Amino acid sequence: MDNAWIEKAWEQVVDKIGQTSHSIGAAFPNGTENGRFVMTPAHDWVAGFWPGLLWLVYSETKNERLQALAVACEEQISQTLWEFEHLHHDVGFMFGLSSIKQYEHLSDEAAKRHALMAASLLAGRFNPVGSFIRAWPNWGNEDHSGWAIIDCMMNLPLLYWASEVIADPRYRHIAELHADMVLKEFIQEDGSVHHIVAFDPETGARVGALAGQGYAADSAWSRGAAWALYGFALSYTYTGKERYLSATKRVAQFFLNHLPSDKVPYWDFRLPRDSVDAPRDSAAAAIAASGLLEIASILGAVDGLSYKQAAEEILFSLYQNYTGLQEDSEGILLHGTGYFMQNIYVDASLIYGDYYFVEALLKLKHAYKTIPKN
Ligand code: GLY
Repeated sequence: MDNAWIEKAWEQVVDKIGQTSHSIGAAFPNGTENGRFVMTPAHDWVAGFWPGLLWLVYSETKNERLQALAVACEEQISQTLWEFEHLHHDVGFMFGLSSIKQYEHLSDEAAKRHALMAASLLAGRFNPVGSFIRAWPNWGNEDHSGWAIIDCMMNLPLLYWASEVIADPRYRHIAELHADMVLKEFIQEDGSVHHIVAFDPETGARVGALAGQGYAADSAWSRGAAWALYGFALSYTYTGKERYLSATKRVAQFFLNHLPSDKVPYWDFRLPRDSVDAPRDSAAAAIAASGLLEIASILGAVDGLSYKQAAEEILFSLYQNYTGLQEDSEGILLHGTGYFMQNIYVDASLIYGDYYFVEALLKLKHAYKTIPKN
């Protein structure tokens, strides 16, 4: 494949973020309605993606205006550490993409402390009898005290990071116990994954799988598969445990084998046969592409080649067929599916789709600059 599109896409992304940063400022976009992002509070699970995007662009451009916006976002996100009842397992996304990035770019010790406090809150969600990290607080009358969800695989890096930074293995132990539980309870023989598995929080006994954001308990929500694919790759990167590498490969195989010809999945891989007009989820494609590039980097130039090629095919199709880079849309990726069953952000741009598309593009851009690992 000719690689010229990567530089062109990158330049367009930098222009787009330059423009939208004026309208979004230091706020927290979620999904779009009529091409404009709807903003959400700083304790929402998506809050880290906008500062994360700003840091991605800053890493190449050193644009100080974007840096100042990212810092202003982190200030608001760090205040949520005092909103205990609002917080959830997604502090991994929130603080990983804001506070940790701020610490890495600016050596900001306060930001590092915020991320360590978030890691302690995440570790505090661990239920030792069921060996799972509890996902959410209760919403209304719905009892979530025994619920674990696949997305949490992407929050484990906050725990691995904390263990390394303060040289204390406890956070890593919790992350591995959760990942091992996911291997056993979420990943199916064929590589498909459940979104939610419920446990009895008193005994740890498995109660059963739930549909969550998927079509049904035994369907295959495509973004859940993407979180699992990328999350297990990251667990391998941090721990070197072979079982996580084999899990990410298994999920990747399922994901790739079920893609339609344009490489962007329907929002669920197991929909009824008459769902011919089902929407796609461009965010699932972007997350999976970035995860496939992580696998490629783990395996090196020869063994990782097929994963890199698969990621490139997905990203090229997203760029060609699914971007709003030159359109009057605040989002970068079009045609994402947030919550199909609730009809929220369907056929919309999603800030996490944009984040992972840009992250993956940057990985690809650097892959052509650096000598690949063997
Ligand atoms: N629950 C996180 C997601 O929508 O992927």
